[in-house]
Amino acid sequence: MLNEKIKKLKISSTLALVVKAKELKDQGKRVISLSVGEPDFPTPEYIKEAGIKAIRGNKTKYTMASGIKELREALIKVYEREQGYRFNLNEIMIHPGSKFSIFLIANVLLSEKDRVLIPKPYWVSYPEIVKFTGATPVFIDSWNGKNFYYKFEDYLPEIKKGIKLFILSSPSNPTGIIMKEEELEKLLKAAIEYDFYLLVDECYRRIIYDNSEYPSPLKIFPEAKDRVLISGSFSKTFAMTGWRVGFTFGPEEIINYMKILQSHSTSNPATPSQYAALVALTDEKDEIEKMVREYERRRDLAYSLLKKIPKIKITKPEGAFYLFPYVKDAIKGKFKNTYEFSEHLIEKFHVVVVPGEAFGTEGFIRISYAASEEDIREGISKIAEAING
Ligand SMILES: Cc1ncc(COP(=O)(O)O)c(C=O)c1O
Repeated sequence: MLNEKIKKLKISSTLALVVKAKELKDQGKRVISLSVGEPDFPTPEYIKEAGIKAIRGNKTKYTMASGIKELREALIKVYEREQGYRFNLNEIMIHPGSKFSIFLIANVLLSEKDRVLIPKPYWVSYPEIVKFTGATPVFIDSWNGKNFYYKFEDYLPEIKKGIKLFILSSPSNPTGIIMKEEELEKLLKAAIEYDFYLLVDECYRRIIYDNSEYPSPLKIFPEAKDRVLISGSFSKTFAMTGWRVGFTFGPEEIINYMKILQSHSTSNPATPSQYAALVALTDEKDEIEKMVREYERRRDLAYSLLKKIPKIKITKPEGAFYLFPYVKDAIKGKFKNTYEFSEHLIEKFHVVVVPGEAFGTEGFIRISYAASEEDIREGISKIAEAING
């Protein structure tokens, strides 16, 4: 007999679409992929060089399970400079990717009786990670019929019923929305009043547009320090998805248990990757900012093209590299749901997007603009054709 908890996990609902796209590619067809969740840029040269240098310099042995001290120190400095709060060395650890940060946080905090509040649309892994701990995910919609927003008052009734953890993705995957400072402040105050933890998944924090200020939880309300866990990543900012480096800032007691669990599971993140991440951070080059400005240019392009399609409602993203238009009215009478529409887009037009169902919200599609301008133009024109045709 298998473990009961593992049987609750679902394989990604988009897998069948990925398989279809691959079949078409294997047949030599040009497939336009607007579904990827990673930068289309290669890892910058100076970071690659640092990785090679680390290997040549024999930085190839185990490190402390919590990661090398130099990288933790560098992250503390950057966080203090950019977000106005100074953590100490026992309040940070490095992981093989930030997905593992979220996995460890959930497993250290949650037991079977616990409820976890997750705004919808959510990043695909949150509910599955929570279910694996035996706890129960509770969802609240952040779509108000016109656009996306995070509004504290909407979460309050569920918070009052008792939650152990609130998971916030900001800037959000899939909507690109950043929680506003006033709402975040209310949430932080509530974390103390109603005794829950707030996990802020900041993996897109550096990819933000329109000169927006990212509201830093602990600058806004440092009193909530014992209630806040911050999960960060090198994957998106530095185009380092395959190197697997992420990190957590949080209360020392929780970090300690996370270290124990990491030491008994993955051990340290790959050593050369940690040294490459250290250089990525301490010797940051212009090209990091240039990638962000390029995403911003593509966001403007994709947003303006989508806005021209009748009956589509769309919120302008403030960060990350996704658009999440509401297409339900536009496809009404032609397709049963957005999964069927996405299937049709692949089969007839060879365009791959992710249906809203994957994020808990039917009626939407996620379009990634971590793609070339040509693909964005052609892909969106085919989406329009599929809707109008
Ligand atoms: C919202 C969000 N959180 C976390 C991750 C995990 O990133 P990584 O494990 O590569 O650091 C991703 C990756 O797609 C993401 O979109």
